[in-house]
Amino acid sequence: MATLIDARADCDIPTRPAGIDAAARRGLRYTPEVKRATDPLYGRVKDFIPAMEWPLYAPLIHAINALKAERKAVILAHNYMTSEIFHCVGDFRGDSLQLAQEAARTDAEIIVQAGVHFMAETSKILAPEKTVLIPSLKAGCSLAASITGADVRLIKQRFPGVPIVTYVNTSADVKAESDICCTSSNALQVVESLPGDTVIMLPDEFLAKNVAAHTRKRIIAWHGRCEVHERFGLEEIAQLREGFPGAHILAHPECPPEVAAAADFVGSTAALAHYVAANKPGRVVLLTECSMSGNVAADNPDVEFIRPCNLCPHMKQITLENIYDALLHMQHEVLVDPDTIARAKGAITRMLALPRPTAPAAFKTGLALAEVEVI
Ligand code: 13P
Ligand code: SF4
Repeated sequence: MATLIDARADCDIPTRPAGIDAAARRGLRYTPEVKRATDPLYGRVKDFIPAMEWPLYAPLIHAINALKAERKAVILAHNYMTSEIFHCVGDFRGDSLQLAQEAARTDAEIIVQAGVHFMAETSKILAPEKTVLIPSLKAGCSLAASITGADVRLIKQRFPGVPIVTYVNTSADVKAESDICCTSSNALQVVESLPGDTVIMLPDEFLAKNVAAHTRKRIIAWHGRCEVHERFGLEEIAQLREGFPGAHILAHPECPPEVAAAADFVGSTAALAHYVAANKPGRVVLLTECSMSGNVAADNPDVEFIRPCNLCPHMKQITLENIYDALLHMQHEVLVDPDTIARAKGAITRMLALPRPTAPAAFKTGLALAEVEVI
């Protein structure tokens, strides 16, 4: 059985459908047929959803899976989705890079992005002939909101000829102004692939600083931050080490560089999941969005997960109810104008064309902090 321990008593992941009548209001009931069809899925989430609450979820899950088949749709579920979305309706699950790769190759006619808006735009850019739906228009991202295409044009005037690497956590307009994209899975590989000794990395200051510790190139960074990962600090790591002896502390590279240096392992969400599966630590802390621990725990029942309780308010906008409504009413369609698609696609496909590593890339820990110019 998977064990999840909340590092803070007030941790409250909003997994329960909003209002006990969310399914009933949509005319969906927990019938014997729904029970039969969804019982195997319950096995994936039984450690996180009490048996008496399952009848609230099952009718929505059953209806979503039926609508997907009817509409030839797939759901791309990011690692930060809550367990009932990730395990019970997600067709493809993973980090930003894996979901983008899947959007590019799926045969489905409709993509429902169970993630945030920039991920849906990336899917639309890679599969412009498909209908891409985002279940909530509120699913933004503090990094994507930190920079505009106009900002990038000014940066290019200030640093002419310096290659611009843009994190996928940005709008299509920003990607369209960039030379190449990166994700947390391949940021170092992308930076090293570029000519010259200077690279501009947008918009995540901390990802840029964590990459800078690994490369001889001079990095110029934008001042964007992830509102979830910037909250982790050295004091919290010290408390976790004291309170949970022996726990392996794994961090996402959007964390501050001093946190990355003090962690036992640093990598993208896929790399963190890979580390747990490959090393089977007795105890682990994932310094990243809180829901991910439950998703990784389902595949690693012998590992004890200490949850740090930082929720992404944008990812948490996606619920079973609005996924069902998205498929039923074909809402909210994500559109990107053709000229922006053409220019942004170049930056994304240059990234996807780089050789694929056999396992998600890891950052080294314990490195000295690097000098980075932040603009
Ligand atoms: P990954 O690419 O590691 O999944 O990260 C996406 C993200 O938004 C992390 O906050
Ligand atoms: Fe954006 Fe941070 Fe949320 Fe990821 S966790 S979507 S980077 S705000």
